[in-house]
Amino acid sequence: MPKLGAPFLHSITSLEENFDRSRFPFNIPAYDKGINIALDSKVTMLVGENGSGKSTLLEAVAECCGFDPEGGNRDHYRESFEDRSELAKALRLSWLPRTTEGFFLRAESFFNFATYIEEVSNLRAYGGKSLHKQSHGESFLALFENRFEHGFYILDEPEAALSPQRQLAFMSIINQLEAPGHAQFLIATHSPILLSYPGAKVISFDDGEIKQIDYKESSHYQLTKSFLDSPERYFRQLFEDYDDA
Ligand SMILES: Nc1ncnc2c1ncn2[C@@H]1O[C@H](COP(=O)(O)OP(=O)(O)OP(=O)(O)O)[C@@H](O)[C@H]1O
Ligand SMILES: [Mg+2]
Repeated sequence: MPKLGAPFLHSITSLEENFDRSRFPFNIPAYDKGINIALDSKVTMLVGENGSGKSTLLEAVAECCGFDPEGGNRDHYRESFEDRSELAKALRLSWLPRTTEGFFLRAESFFNFATYIEEVSNLRAYGGKSLHKQSHGESFLALFENRFEHGFYILDEPEAALSPQRQLAFMSIINQLEAPGHAQFLIATHSPILLSYPGAKVISFDDGEIKQIDYKESSHYQLTKSFLDSPERYFRQLFEDYDDA
């Protein structure tokens, strides 16, 4: 029988009996109808306004995977169900095949993660140069190029470190890993560039529910496109004294 490849994680579902909507984080508006996300693509993008609940969910999913919710890979302290957060306890993840490889990475905690990686791994894996001696974007991409292999990767706003050009390079790395079925990615992003990844499933956290959309329906795509087509139109509304004569 051929070895099963990505996608490894097929769904994230909330357990209604553990979902007490009177308190955080169950009262986040996007979670109102419960959480029921089918991951039938090897790349899934979460998109939504600031504060719509993307990171909260990613952290809980990372915990369920046994990854450190602060960022990193397997965290043996979280192996026990009882030590998990309330949201992680209320989620059911359905795997086939189950993988324990991969990690959770938040762009904002990348510095700590770089320290951790350097402690536990061989520096030569990153071109022989300390991740701390490379710029934020350079080191981020070096990590993607050298560290991503087989597994499930949860990334929170990876674009924070990357120029538009490097976002394209990043998508090329994702493609090399996901196309042959080696890796699966779950990514929260505000980047209209990353959202356009071919074949990615885009999940919106806006309007009080979690639902699949086309990336062109996202306000991120629409506002960015409309703004760049005609920035003056926006500046006239934003600034009382704007003069585009
Ligand atoms: N400990 C907490 N208690 C109560 N509310 C909280 C707590 N931590 C976060 N929140 C709220 O939960 C909501 C969801 O936050 P979250 O970080 O998941 O949003 P996000 O979609 O990742 O936003 P962004 O795009 O800005 O990263 C926000 O409204 C936030 O203020
Ligand atoms: Mg966030």
